[in-house]
Amino acid sequence: MKASAESCANQGLIKYWGKTQERLRLPTNNSISVCLDGLRTRTTVEFSPEHAKDSFRLDGAGRDDERVVRHLDLLRSVAGSKLHARVESRNDFPAGVGMASSASGFAALTVAAAAALDLKLSAHELSRLARRGSGSASRSIPGGFTELLAGDSDEACYATRLASEDALEFRTLVVTVATTPKKVSSTKGMKITTETSPFFAPRLEYLNGALQAMRKALAEKDAAKVAELAEIDTMNMHATMITSRPPLLYWTGGTLDVIREVLALREEGVPAFVSVDAGQNPFVNTIPRQAETVRDRLAKLPSVASVLTCRPGGPAHLVAEHLF
Ligand code: PMV
Repeated sequence: MKASAESCANQGLIKYWGKTQERLRLPTNNSISVCLDGLRTRTTVEFSPEHAKDSFRLDGAGRDDERVVRHLDLLRSVAGSKLHARVESRNDFPAGVGMASSASGFAALTVAAAAALDLKLSAHELSRLARRGSGSASRSIPGGFTELLAGDSDEACYATRLASEDALEFRTLVVTVATTPKKVSSTKGMKITTETSPFFAPRLEYLNGALQAMRKALAEKDAAKVAELAEIDTMNMHATMITSRPPLLYWTGGTLDVIREVLALREEGVPAFVSVDAGQNPFVNTIPRQAETVRDRLAKLPSVASVLTCRPGGPAHLVAEHLF
């Protein structure tokens, strides 16, 4: 009744920002992402009649996390179990890195809890369940470069793999400019944008072409093109955020410093491109040959606290070593 799993976080390359259904977490559009092998979560789950209630510890500290309990409820309902669980998670990236760990967290929790409940589920089924914890978690299940199919029902909304983690010569620099928690959660922010931004409808129109272009760049293993399309999508998504009422401005001065440095690098002929999810810490995507040059330049900026170089990461998987 105990199992452990490991999963990578992922970066939206063509991002989703909006849901058609809150409870099932059905997104307004397909999205494409890449898993990041430097940002991993390991989770151990044990269901036992000896546990009087669910408990959750993250990086050694006890947490009262309603979302984790709700996710355990979902998995229990699939398995027909009433047992409570002890859950322990550890992120292998520094807590201060400020990257959203909900994708790796809910993917690892789903895989570990399903195995601990002896559920025999396909990757599609695991991806659907992970989505109920966090939309982007569904994309961490298959690993590599994946597409989350928006679908209009729970059954139709899961992530599939577009390219393996080894298919492309691609690097992502995870840049930390600050560690202050963001003020508006993704769930709340998405609602504000879909309801108020005049740019939301045009974004949905642009997305079909953007998704097609990204699939083509991945099929052609064109890493620089993938990085460029991700930057274009970042600007498009943040335009819808900024034009929301109230405006959702996730960027800080540090984010802008990094964007300006990336633009300067490009003027020098270096293929580096920025990508920002719902937060202040940017990703910078580039080709392996230039990763060190880009990292050194970004690390010199006074507003940059750390730069972590990541390769594309693999699928969420069970591991033998438990955390307790
Ligand atoms: O992880 P969620 O479901 O809260 O959504 C996050 C969405 C973005 O990171 C902003 C974009 C994306 O597609 O990853």
